[in-house]
Amino acid sequence: MKYKNFGSTGLRASVIGMGTYYDPLWIITAKLGWLRDRKRKVEALISGLKAGINLIDTAELYGSEPLVGEAIRGFQRKDILISTKVWPTHLRREKLLRSLERSLRRLGTDYVDFYLIHFPGSRDANREALAAMEEAVASGMIRYIGLSNFDLNGVIEARKMLKKNDIAVLQNEYNLNHRDPERDLIPYCEKENIAFMAYYPLAHGALAKNSRLLELSKRYGATPAQLALLWLLRWRTVFPIPRASRAEHVIENARAADIDVPEEVLRLL
Ligand SMILES: NC(=O)c1ccc[n+]([C@@H]2O[C@H](COP(=O)([O-])OP(=O)(O)OC[C@H]3O[C@@H](n4cnc5c(N)ncnc54)[C@H](OP(=O)(O)O)[C@@H]3O)[C@@H](O)[C@H]2O)c1
Repeated sequence: MKYKNFGSTGLRASVIGMGTYYDPLWIITAKLGWLRDRKRKVEALISGLKAGINLIDTAELYGSEPLVGEAIRGFQRKDILISTKVWPTHLRREKLLRSLERSLRRLGTDYVDFYLIHFPGSRDANREALAAMEEAVASGMIRYIGLSNFDLNGVIEARKMLKKNDIAVLQNEYNLNHRDPERDLIPYCEKENIAFMAYYPLAHGALAKNSRLLELSKRYGATPAQLALLWLLRWRTVFPIPRASRAEHVIENARAADIDVPEEVLRLL
């Protein structure tokens, strides 16, 4: 596994992370207390941690926080970086702090490394959420503040709303099929040294089955999923977080970090 600076935090994160959004049905059944395929999913996360991945993404929405908590139990907490997210209906101070406490309880930890607003709310609600997050930084419940699904203006506005902290991480969709962030968000992150977690890095699995990627991958001893991840890694600040629900996929994705593909292939992609 390779590691690089996580934006300007001073933390070193594995260049490939792990995501834990499964599917809408999974979220519904998890709310009812049924964590389908729990054992397999926890094992997948553990195999990733053993392969050197130290960056795990979850959210209060996903229902996967208890699985992450279970997976990290056998590891040193300080060696793992966890991001979780607050849902936009919980952006008011009391609600956010209660959401955060619940997330920490489910994760079985007393702090999260990155706490993100999952989707922007109104300007007023974002301001209140960011102030509450600053309180949580001061009390040690979170280390860094982040945003997800914000556009560039939203990011700039949020940074101005913060008093003592800065936005350390953005999380938005980015993959070979969806290159919008290259227009503004990623160049901004590169310039400002903000970590960018790329969600849907495999276009929800479609890129792992893409025939053109398959053709190219055969020539370079990689799999289509690995090529799709490697292509994202050409940016200093980008960290793809492919979903980790099967150990064999997690290991394959982790190995992408150690494959050298010629510049020419990245250009072709
Ligand atoms: N902030 C947000 O609003 C937001 C939104 C969506 C997602 N996310 C985060 O981003 C993460 C990734 O997004 P995603 O899970 O929706 O999409 P994804 O990672 O692009 O794709 C997941 C799909 O790819 C498959 N896959 C993974 N590795 C593979 C491999 N090596 N070969 C073949 N197939 C492979 C998975 O199958 P298996 O499960 O069978 O391995 C799953 O079907 C989420 O888990 C979540 O943490 C954030």
